Amino acid sequence: MVNMPPEVRETLEKQWPIPFATASSDGKPNVVFMGILKIKDDETLLFADNFFNKTATNLAENPWASVVCWTKDPRRSFQIKGSVTFQDEGPIYDEMAESVRARKPDLNMRRAVIFKIEEIYEASSGPTAGDRIA
Ligand SMILES: Cc1cc2nc3c(=O)[nH]c(=O)nc-3n(C[C@H](O)[C@H](O)[C@H](O)COP(=O)(O)O)c2cc1C
Repeated sequence: MVNMPPEVRETLEKQWPIPFATASSDGKPNVVFMGILKIKDDETLLFADNFFNKTATNLAENPWASVVCWTKDPRRSFQIKGSVTFQDEGPIYDEMAESVRARKPDLNMRRAVIFKIEEIYEASSGPTAGDRIA
């Protein structure tokens, strides 16, 4: 696991919706939008599985996922790759279910998505594009 530098956190906090990519075990990619994110700490992002379909199939086969974020001012972009596990009960489930209820009272979250940050890359245009930064 790696720690998210402050500039990555600030950029991710401003990203909405968040593109969330997965891949099947035979390498077929899939990307969806995620609207609800909680940054638990500098190594851990929490999402809500409310509607996962192909995303759930992919993560059952291959736990890697990736998100990308961008801000115009300051001009920054980062790719974050991580490994995903789920909780359908317990303290993290309760914390995330509360976040979902606060935004959408009618929605019952299926599972909390625990995304442990493993790699972070520069994704702006320029000479350092694609470089690993954490
Ligand atoms: C703006 C927006 C925000 C969304 N947020 C979430 C979310 O937080 N959680 C979720 O499970 N699905 C969310 N969805 C639905 C997924 O993007 C997607 O439709 C769902 O995972 C099914 O696609 P799949 O078969 O590729 O998994 C959102 C969709 C949009 C358009």
